[in-house]
Order: sequence, then structure tokens, then C-alpha cells
Amino acid sequence: MIYPERFSNLPEYAFPRLRALLDAHAPGGEVVHMSIGEPRHPMPPFVGKVLQEALAGFGKYPVNEGTPALLDAITAWLMRRYGVTLTPERVMALNGTREGLFNLALALCPEAKRGARPVVLTPNPFYQVYAVAAAAVGAEPRFVPATAATGHLPDYAALPPEVLDRVALAYVCSPANPQGAVASRTYWAELLALAERHDFRIIADECYSEIWRDAPPPGLLEVAAETGADPERVLVVHSLSKRSNLPGLRSGFIAGGAESIRRIRQLRNYAGAPLPEPLQAVAAAVWDDEAHVAANRALYHEKYRIADAVLDGVPGYAAPPAGFFLWLPVADGEAAALKLWRETGVRALPGAYLSRDTETGNPGKGFIRVAMVAAALEFRDGLTRLRDCLYT
Ligand SMILES: Cc1ncc(COP(=O)(O)O)c(C=O)c1O
Repeated sequence: MIYPERFSNLPEYAFPRLRALLDAHAPGGEVVHMSIGEPRHPMPPFVGKVLQEALAGFGKYPVNEGTPALLDAITAWLMRRYGVTLTPERVMALNGTREGLFNLALALCPEAKRGARPVVLTPNPFYQVYAVAAAAVGAEPRFVPATAATGHLPDYAALPPEVLDRVALAYVCSPANPQGAVASRTYWAELLALAERHDFRIIADECYSEIWRDAPPPGLLEVAAETGADPERVLVVHSLSKRSNLPGLRSGFIAGGAESIRRIRQLRNYAGAPLPEPLQAVAAAVWDDEAHVAANRALYHEKYRIADAVLDGVPGYAAPPAGFFLWLPVADGEAAALKLWRETGVRALPGAYLSRDTETGNPGKGFIRVAMVAAALEFRDGLTRLRDCLYT
């Protein structure tokens, strides 16, 4: 049999890789899971009621782009959160944002850019679907370091102009998974100017936008509106998985220029997997409510405080301004994760499982990623064991 080459050299996915690293060894204590970014706070209390009332919708094929009620709830939320006014035609409902981050490349990445193979930029380390999207469209992925030296965000402007001219899509994650870095207004404005000069699109993965410490992270849509950028350059992706502790609902959206969204909708009319209507009804109610979001953020604030207290004095520890991960420097991420598991039972993810080797090395190698998803007491216990094992 013949198989495609385009996905053949994908590394093993992070979590099977972690199981292969750890599971042959017994845990050195009561197990604390800090490797997976799966929220564990309560979901909004009204989800069951809304679902119950919308059950009849399971008897229908769902609306591809999103029900009018869902699109209205999303545009109202974008107005409240970012002060931007978008018509519903500029939004597309997603079956979770991971598939959207993948499929929008199929809809929008051209076959060639300036007569050559297009380039897709991704930060390094990064949320892995960006690289698979690049592979699927036959583009050349370019893994751009997002390290302490670059404020943990990719410095795309430092790439050679001849590479930038071939860029079709540039992914940016803010707040960043795994580092928690936040793109400032200036970062977004400069990136928009670069995209204008070299004629590429920016895909802002803002899934962690509602989990922040001191101030709400600025969004690409609002900066694009403020600076008068071409709306077709900008695609912004949001999720209910982290904001509302509903990773199993599989609900998010893309917002962008009318023509880009029209093309995404068109492709999905043929090949998409729309969100069932009862789930769209739940999603609309969840976007409409901010009380549960504030309560959720308060739970993360408690864990930010715990992290600051437990890791006080640990060299290289930097309090993340947003998101729910700690990105902790170690000599070698795999060795540290294994030692941590064998000596304490705490599970953390080696940073290199989220990053790629490049000619300048692998920027995730000297890190572990710790998810702050467990309840406060369990989190404090796990983090204390981690500190005592790795940093004393
Ligand atoms: C950076 C980032 N983007 C996107 C997603 C996908 O979220 P979902 O598909 O649950 O909406 C995740 C999930 O972990 C993520 O960390």
C-alpha cells in the first residue's frame, strides 16, 4: 500500500510520548497530574438546563456556520470584551478550536506565494496542530523560537525578508501555551505592519484570553480595528474549553475578514463537522454569561499565588501573566520529568514534547510544563514536591 509522506515524520504526540517515558516506572508517591492542560474547575451551572431545553435539536442536521443565536452571542461577547463590532458573517462556529486551527489553513493557505512554496510560521514551542496544518497544505513550516530572549513570543520580524515574502500564514498564541506570555498592543501592531509589508495572514490563537492575572490580554481584533488593518489579514480563534471549563463541549469560533470567513464556511459546507444544535444552544448561553468566567479566574488567581509562594527563589521562575501553565527551567526536561515521577509521583510534561529541533537547538529542551489545573490543595502539594525534588 502507498501512504502519504506529508505526515510521516510527525513526532509521536506529546501524551503517548509521556506515557512511554514514565509508565514503565512506578510513581514515587501519590500521583498528581500536572501534565495535561485539561481544565478541572466546575462548568457553568446552567449547562444541563439549557441542554435539556434544546434536546430536540439532536433530531436535525446542525447549521454549518453557527445558529443565529450563537453568532449573536459571540459578536456580543466580542463587543463587550474587545470593543469591536463584527457582523455575524464575520464569525464561524467551530467544533472545538483545534479543528478550526487546522481547517482554516486548508481554506486560506494558497498553493504558492510569489511563485514559490508558501511558508507557515509557528512559534517554537507551540500548540502542535499548527505544524500539522502546515503539513496538510503542503507549506513549509518554519519554527521560530519563542524564548526568554524574545519575550516568549516569536520574533517574526527577525526572519530574512525573502522568507517573509513567502509567508502565507503566521500562527501566534497569546496568552501563549506553554509560556503564558501575552502579546502587547505594540507586538500585535508591529506584526500587523509586518504582515502588510509581506502580505500574509495572522492567526491569533487566543484560547487562554480569559485566564489572566492583572489585566485582560489585548486581542488581535481590537488592535487591528484600532490600527485600521485590513480585516482579511486577521483571524482570531477562541474557545469555551478553558474560559468556561467545557473541553468536552467542543465549542469555539473563528472571527476574521468577511471574505476569509466566507471561504472557511464554503469549505465546511462540503467537508465540515458542525457543532450539534443543542451544543450550539449551550455555547450561546455560555458566551452570554461572565459570572462563571470571573469565578473561574479567581480560582486560577489562588493558584498563581500558590506558585509564587512555593517557587519563590527558584532560579528562572517567572510568574506567568496569563494562562494556566508554568514553564519551568531545568537542565533537561525529559530527565527532570522522569526523576519527578519516580521520586514523587508528580506528572509534568517535558518541554521538548511541545517544540521542534531547529538549527539553533530545541528551545523546549531545558523546560518542563506544569498545568495548574488541579484543585488548590492538590496543586500546592504537587508543586511543593516538584520544588523539593528538582530545585533543592
Ligand atoms: C493553545 C491552544 N490552542 C487551542 C487549543 C484547543 O482547544 P479546543 O479544541 O478545546 O477548543 C488548546 C487546547 O489545549 C490550546 O492549548
